[in-house]
Order: sequence, then structure tokens, then C-alpha cells
Amino acid sequence: MSGIVIVGAQWGDEGKGKITDLLAERADAVIRFQGGNNAGHTIVRHGETWKLHLMPSGILYPGKTCVIGNGVVIDPKVLTDELDELRGRGVDTSGLRISANAHMIMPYHMMLDDAGEARLGKLKIGTTRRGIGPAYADKASRIGIRVQDLLDEKILKKKIVAALEPKRLALRPFARDPRLDLQAITEEYLAYGRRLSEYIADTTSLVWDKLDKGDMVIFEGAQGALLDIDHGTYPFVTSSNPIAASACIGSGAGPKDIDEIWGIAKAYSTRVGSGPFPTELHDALGDDLRRRGGEFGTTTGRSRRIGWLDLVALRYAARLNSLTALVVTKLDVLSGLDTIKVCTRYRGEDGAEFDTFPYHQTVLHHATGDYVELPGWSEDISEARSEEELPENARAYLRFMEEFIGVPIVLVSVGPGREQTMWTAAGRATAPGQAVPAG
Ligand code: IMP
Repeated sequence: MSGIVIVGAQWGDEGKGKITDLLAERADAVIRFQGGNNAGHTIVRHGETWKLHLMPSGILYPGKTCVIGNGVVIDPKVLTDELDELRGRGVDTSGLRISANAHMIMPYHMMLDDAGEARLGKLKIGTTRRGIGPAYADKASRIGIRVQDLLDEKILKKKIVAALEPKRLALRPFARDPRLDLQAITEEYLAYGRRLSEYIADTTSLVWDKLDKGDMVIFEGAQGALLDIDHGTYPFVTSSNPIAASACIGSGAGPKDIDEIWGIAKAYSTRVGSGPFPTELHDALGDDLRRRGGEFGTTTGRSRRIGWLDLVALRYAARLNSLTALVVTKLDVLSGLDTIKVCTRYRGEDGAEFDTFPYHQTVLHHATGDYVELPGWSEDISEARSEEELPENARAYLRFMEEFIGVPIVLVSVGPGREQTMWTAAGRATAPGQAVPAG
């Protein structure tokens, strides 16, 4: 096994950072392949908390090769701030490599994100306002600014002029904003180029070299399958493809380089921003789970919407990603409930039943869940370190999930700490990550 993709199997915030960090110990490289600082992952190590937005999750291992791939959009202020913070806390960041082909988030992208949301009013997407969508739009329009452009003043200026020109109308409300001054933007971004130059590289060749040597390479996704711009709940999605297929596009690896695809799912569901969410809880139980699960965004601090586990959506994500393994996180948050509901089917407005994820936006918007009720458990499971230490009903919950999805659960997490993780029998027997000691 050399190439392993880690993706979110729900709406993001599943705990990918924690799992990547855990596996990264034995990996030779960790590569982020899409998204930007709309993502946020929290890693808890030895009681210390790290909140990362752009850095690959392996960065806490001294000198580990950590790549920001060509598919990522980079806000250089966020990246340089993150570098400063890591270095300030004594982390060796010498292994960081940034693709020269990755696109930059520019000040006008953030303004366009704000303006777009304001214009949509009630129909707004609920973006993170980090400029992600407008940056990817410029990339597709071929007027994006890439990392390599920061190294050449003449080219950078020309490209900024070309990029700014078509935005005049949309940015009229910001017309007098100093952040739109050509000279000021050019100078600011040249300065970022100088700061980042030691990390800029041909990361595609670097990834090929590692893979060709048989090194273990982790491809770390951001967001989740249901936020995928093609396969998610469009238009309430992000502007990239967080599914496994995009690991190749966003890094330069070929499809045959991928050996394993791990999907990360919470034991329940959450979503941030607008859009359909058939299993959403609007009651006190939802509030309670939000509080217990600490369900507030790492990036924006927004409250996450909470719902029961949606197995229709999860089975869809498993197929979209060709998942070879499932990791279940935050199982501990469900402790103390008499019964736990899991959604196994949707019901449309007219009573129609859907066993599979409906392709039509209107159907999904009005869909509600049909549930199976499973018995809960009262024990605190945050100290459990093996499946055998879990209450019978917690194990039955996992088995139900696994059988419904048809993908083996290899790891279960019962708290934010690194040690609050256990390999299942399937994980110990088959998963490549078994090289990592349990607990
Ligand atoms: P954008 O990616 O900022 O354009 O936001 C588009 C949608 O994706 C919004 O609903 C965001 O809340 C959601 N989103 C983006 N990144 C994340 C993430 O890392 N976790 C959860 N939701 C996200």
C-alpha cells in the first residue's frame, strides 16, 4: 500500500484532521489536494490543541513532507500566519512544499464572496466568506493568479490587471476600497512570494517520486462528499471536488497510485451553512448534541446544524468515493440516549420513498428521513480503547452502520485526543493503518 486517500463522507467536519494526523506518523508524505482555508481541522496532541486551516495534518511531525497540492486555493496571509504560529510553538515546518501551480486567493475574491452572498439574500449559500468560490471561478476562467506568479513582478502585475478588469461591476460597492489598489496588491503578494519561496516546488514530481519508491503517501481531503460541486447538494456546496477522484487531479498522482480510500463519518450528522439536510434535528436534543459534540466551526465559529445519522447519504458517499474503509468518529457524543435513530430511507413530500440519494434538488429539499430506532447505551465510552470495551449496543450500532453501507469500519474514535481511538477487528486484520499502534 502506498497511496491512501482520506475523505469526508458527510458534509465536512467529520474529524479527517485527527485521523490523518494519526496515520501520518507512519506516512512519508501528506498531501492536501483541494479546498482552502474554508477547511479547519483541530488536532489535540498531549493536551495541546492545534487549529489548522491550510496546513496538511502531518505538519506536527518534525520535517514530515507535507504538500499543499495544485488543487488547493491558497490565501497567503493565512498560510504565512499559520507558518509563524507553528514555528512560534516550536514546530519544524521544513517539510512543507507548496505547488507552484496552486491558485491564490486574492483580496477581491473575498470581497466577491461577500458581495455574492449579499446579493443572494435569503438564497445565500452560507459560505465561509474566505473567497473560495471566486478563486476557483477565476481558475476556471483562466484568469487566476498562481503561486509561481508571485515570483515575477511583471507577470504578477499583468495578471492582476487582467483579473480585476472583469470584476469592476460586481465590485462597485467596494470601488474605493484600498484593498483594490493594483500597486498595493502587487507589493503585498510579492512579499508573500518572498516569504514562501523556500517552500515552492514542483510537487507533482515530488509526489511521483514518493509513490514510485513505494512510500506511504496520504492524500488528505477537505470538506465532504455532500459538499462536492458535482455530486453534492448543489448549489449549497463548496467550489471544489472533495471526493476521492479529485485526489489525483489536485496532486498530479494517477488513478492507479491510489490503493486505499478511507471515508470519515461522524456517528451522527452535521452541516454548516444552508442547504437540504433531511435528518436535521430542530429540537432540544439537537442543541444538546451540538453542545456535547462541540459542534461549532473551526473556521468561522458558526453553530453547526445537527441531525441523526443519514445512511442513505452515507451509502451514496461510499459509492462515489469507492470507499475501502470507514472510520466512525464522535461515537461518545451519542452516549446517554435511550434510543438512537438512523435514517435508512427518505420520504418525499408526496409520500414517495427513496432508498437512494435523489438526484433532483426539489425532492431532496422536501425529503424527510424514515428511521430505524436502535437501543442506546448509558455508559461513558470516552475511555474505551478497544471494541471489546464498548457496550453491546454501541457495537450493534456500528455493525448496523457497516452492514447498511457495505464498507468495513476500521477505526472508531471516542474523543478528541489521539489516544481516544480504537482499531476494530476488521481494521486490525486488513487496514494498512494497522501499522499505527492502537491507543
Ligand atoms: P465555501 O467553501 O466557503 O464556498 O462554502 C460553501 C459551503 O461549504 C458552505 O455551506 C460552507 O459552510 C461549507 N463548507 C466549506 N468548507 C467547509 C468545511 O470545512 N466544513 C464544513 N462545511 C464547509
